[in-house]
Amino acid sequence: MTTLTRLPDDYVQNPHEVHDLLRAEGPVQEVHLPRGLKVWLVTRYDEAKIALTDPRVSKNMAEGRYVFDLHAPKDARRGEFESALSVHMLNMDPPHHTRLRKLVTKAFTARRIELMRPRVQEIAAELIAKMNDGDEVDLLEAFAFPLPITVICELLGIPIDNRDEFREWSNTLLTFGAPEQIQHAAGAMAQFLIQHVEKARAAEPDDTFFSALVHADDSGDQLNTEELVSMAFLLLVAGHETTVNLIGNAVLALLKNPDQLQVLKDRPELIPASAEEFLRLEGPVNIATFRYTKEPLELGGVVVPADELVMVSLVAANRDPAKYENPDRLDVTRSAQGHVAFGHGIHFCLGAPLARLEFDVALTQLLARFPGLALAQEPETLVWRDSTLIRGLHTLPVRLA
Ligand code: HEM
Repeated sequence: MTTLTRLPDDYVQNPHEVHDLLRAEGPVQEVHLPRGLKVWLVTRYDEAKIALTDPRVSKNMAEGRYVFDLHAPKDARRGEFESALSVHMLNMDPPHHTRLRKLVTKAFTARRIELMRPRVQEIAAELIAKMNDGDEVDLLEAFAFPLPITVICELLGIPIDNRDEFREWSNTLLTFGAPEQIQHAAGAMAQFLIQHVEKARAAEPDDTFFSALVHADDSGDQLNTEELVSMAFLLLVAGHETTVNLIGNAVLALLKNPDQLQVLKDRPELIPASAEEFLRLEGPVNIATFRYTKEPLELGGVVVPADELVMVSLVAANRDPAKYENPDRLDVTRSAQGHVAFGHGIHFCLGAPLARLEFDVALTQLLARFPGLALAQEPETLVWRDSTLIRGLHTLPVRLA
């Protein structure tokens, strides 16, 4: 029996203390999230992996009581958001998931992603060229936000003029907001994407990713317009907010741990592999793994009844002391393999290679150009975004040097 029945209102400011308490009491507890939704929250590593993979747990939210987002029960979220944007693979079980994942994997190949490296480097260099020694900037605004949104929009063939709108819509959809605001953002995004998909379907195939996705064919099977719109939406949201905060959280962790920053400055060849430690220590996705029990499920001695929402805190699982020694410590040389920041099982993040590539390019260029980078605000006074889904800061004020 847990002593905590509701995550505290200031949970996002320091979730780790809350997770430690919950994890010490048991692998899974029934708690209310700060906005009231009741979930069975998994905080231990071993049980997290079971909850993410057991076939008795479903992601098909259309059949469950809840839709894609955790902040409100289904009734609050009807409308275009549900119909046009939610028929994507992250909301599906096999065999539908298998079919959609197979089709998108044909377009999202490792080769196509690696071919993007020079362009990602160019985008990062352009952003860095706009920043000057001695300036005080919000690193999220100046660097971590524009990099992934530019990359993902280019991947999807979305014109640069629409990127600010996209950022606003996805921000509205991922943070706590009024249902009308969410409906509005979802409706506007759906409308834009429908037109975008229809244009791409009518065009001759070319060698871009989006064209490959639109024309992806598995023995005659293709994605229809609705599936393409939802897929584009998933890629935009999943591929943007996450990478922004992987970069932001990593820079914060480094600036709070100068010895570790020095290691990466001395040995930049460690940067690509260090991504795993940053993902483990402060991954950008926290309580976002929507699933419900189709049947009762035992997790470490606790039975979760059928038709209940089971959410894993990936952030909590990745700091389970039973899995990682000194879990709260940043050690850029540790082997953080096995972390669940990208999920686990059939829904394992499709964009992981792209996220790793963007992280590598971003950190390498940033540390090379600004080796004297420093926080411009006491770390304790930084404000975290009001979301249990995304773990990221509002702003990251730094001094460039
Ligand atoms: C799925 C995390 C970047 C596309 C997931 C899941 C997690 C995750 C935890 C699984 C959720 C679940 O099982 O409920 C992350 C993190 C990222 C990142 C931490 C960056 C640091 C990206 C990027 C893209 C992307 C850059 C695409 C361009 C996807 C897709 C899925 C997914 C399509 C659904 C896969 C499926 O259902 O089979 N991601 N993601 N992600 N991610 Fe990512």
